[in-house]
Amino acid sequence: MTEDKEPAELPEAALVTGASSGIGFAMAHELARRGHDVIVVAERGVDEAVRGLSEHMDARVTGLEVDLATPSGVEEAVARARDLGARTFVLNAGIGVHGPFLHTTLQDELRVVDLNVRSVVHLAHLVVPDLVRTGTGRILVTSSIAATMPAPLFATYAASKAFLRSFAWSLRDELAGTGVTVTTVLPAATRTPFFRAAEMERTHIGRAPKASPRMVARRAVDALLDGRAEIAPGLQAKAMVATAWLLPQPARSAFHGWFYAPGARR
Ligand SMILES: NC(=O)c1ccc[n+]([C@@H]2O[C@H](COP(=O)([O-])OP(=O)(O)OC[C@H]3O[C@@H](n4cnc5c(N)ncnc54)[C@H](OP(=O)(O)O)[C@@H]3O)[C@@H](O)[C@H]2O)c1
Repeated sequence: MTEDKEPAELPEAALVTGASSGIGFAMAHELARRGHDVIVVAERGVDEAVRGLSEHMDARVTGLEVDLATPSGVEEAVARARDLGARTFVLNAGIGVHGPFLHTTLQDELRVVDLNVRSVVHLAHLVVPDLVRTGTGRILVTSSIAATMPAPLFATYAASKAFLRSFAWSLRDELAGTGVTVTTVLPAATRTPFFRAAEMERTHIGRAPKASPRMVARRAVDALLDGRAEIAPGLQAKAMVATAWLLPQPARSAFHGWFYAPGARR
């Protein structure tokens, strides 16, 4: 006689913002590979990402094109996540504006704040109560090693990433014992379209060797699923975190600012 087996519990759906390219796409791939259904959220290019992720995967991958720099975009993303019962959230979409603060436009600077900061607070504020009610949930916030030091010529971006790091750690502590974990990832320079989009290809960091988005994603998703507090994936990221810790505050700006200054071709 064959025993009736309980159906195996499948990993729940995961919503990944900024998953049309780069680190977000790689994290969506990593989650799909591990059996999660994935909701790919970005402003553009979602269909192609969904096609790429669906190939050779059993996971159900769906896409949503919204501008997360707007409140309505965030609300649409949350509505989709609720429809599909998502309990894993990767808050990764982010942009940078590079250059002297004297010359950047206010509109560009505020868009960094709207996407990198406001959309994460808004999205978390909407989904955290749902997760706490069900007693289970995982949130991954993409910060950056740029969070560890001030960054002349990349001031608003670095401050936005410092905000995210502090926010994620605080939220994690507030949610201790609820079954909901919050993990922060601090990638170092990673090979993605980010530097071209921020017009940083001629800076020292734009020209520097970069980590692979796959490596970053694999380690970030491991940390997310283990409910760890923070991960700095790869040697370069770990070295930057240690350097920030060792340098006195006035030296941090000068050291970190070098990365964002124009750099000679190697
Ligand atoms: N690359 C690095 O060296 C590095 C290092 C540390 C941290 N990070 C962080 O990693 C995250 C991902 O960046 P990435 O390097 O993978 O660059 P990327 O390939 O340019 O990814 C950015 C993602 O955000 C999406 N996005 C941008 N504006 C959006 C908006 N208004 N609404 C919805 N989605 C939007 C982009 O899609 P669309 O533009 O098509 O909408 C894309 O999917 C960012 O938060 C970045 O700050 C990157």
